[in-house]
Amino acid sequence: MEAEAVKSNLVLILDYGSQYTHLITRRIRSLSVFSLCISGTSSIQSIADLNPSVIILSGGPHSVHAPVAPSFPDEFIEYVQSNGVYVLGICYGLHLLVQKLGGEVRVGEKQEYGRMEIDVLKGGSGLFDKGVDDRQVVWMSHGDEAVRLPDGFEVVARSQQGAVAAVENPARRFYGLQYHPEVTHSPKGMETLRYFLFDVCGITAGWKMEDVLEEEVKVIRGMLGPENHVICALSGGVDSTVAATLVHKAIGDRLHCVFVDNGLLRYKERERVMETFEKDLHLPVTCVDATEQFLSKLKGVVDPERKRKIIGKEFICIFDAFAQDLEQKLGNRPAYLVQGTLYPDVIESCPPPGSGRTHSHTIKSHHNVGGLPKDMKLKLIEPLKLLFKDEVRELGRILNVPVGFLKRHPFPGPGLAVRVLGDVTEGNALDILREVDEIFIQSIKNAGIYDSIWQAFAVFLPIRSVGVQGDQRTHSHVVALRAVTSQDGMTADWFNFDHKFLDDVARKICNSVRGVNRVVQDITSKPPSTIEWE
Ligand code: XMP
Repeated sequence: MEAEAVKSNLVLILDYGSQYTHLITRRIRSLSVFSLCISGTSSIQSIADLNPSVIILSGGPHSVHAPVAPSFPDEFIEYVQSNGVYVLGICYGLHLLVQKLGGEVRVGEKQEYGRMEIDVLKGGSGLFDKGVDDRQVVWMSHGDEAVRLPDGFEVVARSQQGAVAAVENPARRFYGLQYHPEVTHSPKGMETLRYFLFDVCGITAGWKMEDVLEEEVKVIRGMLGPENHVICALSGGVDSTVAATLVHKAIGDRLHCVFVDNGLLRYKERERVMETFEKDLHLPVTCVDATEQFLSKLKGVVDPERKRKIIGKEFICIFDAFAQDLEQKLGNRPAYLVQGTLYPDVIESCPPPGSGRTHSHTIKSHHNVGGLPKDMKLKLIEPLKLLFKDEVRELGRILNVPVGFLKRHPFPGPGLAVRVLGDVTEGNALDILREVDEIFIQSIKNAGIYDSIWQAFAVFLPIRSVGVQGDQRTHSHVVALRAVTSQDGMTADWFNFDHKFLDDVARKICNSVRGVNRVVQDITSKPPSTIEWE
């Protein structure tokens, strides 16, 4: 599908802060329809600029009666009416529609949270196809309810308690659901969304990763022209690798990548990633061995925040030197920097009332190269900034990035410095940790459970304990194993290995890594702990 056609089939989500907002965006994209999410209080101009065919008003934690209740701009109703845009309000979005169009929303007598059953009163309407089940299980999460509908609206489904569950005014293209069709706990929810988008709104599916790739290549070429050079810092992670591969496809060797070995990498990491960069992806990468530079600065440093700061600063020095070298070689300084920023990092969201924040950019600063000196004056190229992680993997697959690479667990920028508690330069802590981590990860891979785990790693503890090995008393190190399941790293639970697996790993570690006589497992979730120990 042509880029213009994709754009003219856009489903725009106006975000009012629901925890499910991003999920709606993803679900719609999974139907091969392009979907974007912007703040629910965006101006009418920014909405009109995107020219959406359908607008979904998301749920949110607010009541429409709250003084801080966010809303669409005043001109919104007129805009959608005169442009033939379909509108679907979900939960809070439904309340907003009802209230703004002259109906009434009240605090419900019985609030409905969780799994509920609804009765579909009218199949063959805008939300339910003919012949759908009369009774459906859905996921509700609301206190307020619509008690009087605006003129022209009709109730097409009710909850078992009699509350409004779905409404519509087909003549004006307004629709509303009190429940969340996007969550898996509403088993028929996707069917409802599919029917609504394709059969009612007339959306054409056609958004696919191949087109994203083609479009991005075109945009990058247009932006850079025939002369400009670009630099990119590769971390060995999925995002920067896919971003660089894409830019390389667009401009070839006018891309210049740097990979820094800071001495804090995992077992054979440098060799492994450089092989992928060179042999599989043919990326032009300069590998800088800065082990001494980093470790000498980290000597004696115990505080995790100081470690992070030192590492960040050192990285910038190396990056700066790399850019200067290039300038000398090329005769002019590269003007652009590639970053693997993803959609969840830039998406605007509506923070909960009372949080003291207005609309904010949620940026996990420690996940970006961040902190690059302002005077470098590099313009950013962020080719992944509209994509979710699974979409980046899909893009990587099309770009022939090896699948094993695309499925790698996340690894923190400051590397093993946040996994050796205490001074990283003391004794052979880093070497011990590398060996232990490698045994742990290989065992996980051999057991076929790597992809079921979100992140796994070993931690070096700066303590010794007494043990007995070969009739000898030992006074050796303790290492911890950590493996978690998670969706996005914001919250996490510990992964439950079977006993035999743990027994084998602990035995293997103590038998083959000198200096370790005790292995413990971390069984805390996040919160209260974090994923890394630091
Ligand atoms: P925490 O320990 O904060 O980690 O629960 C959440 C996720 O973020 C990763 N992490 C980092 N990633 N640079 C990164 O690129 C960093 O400085 C950094 N610190 C933590 C961590 O590995 C986990 O996946």
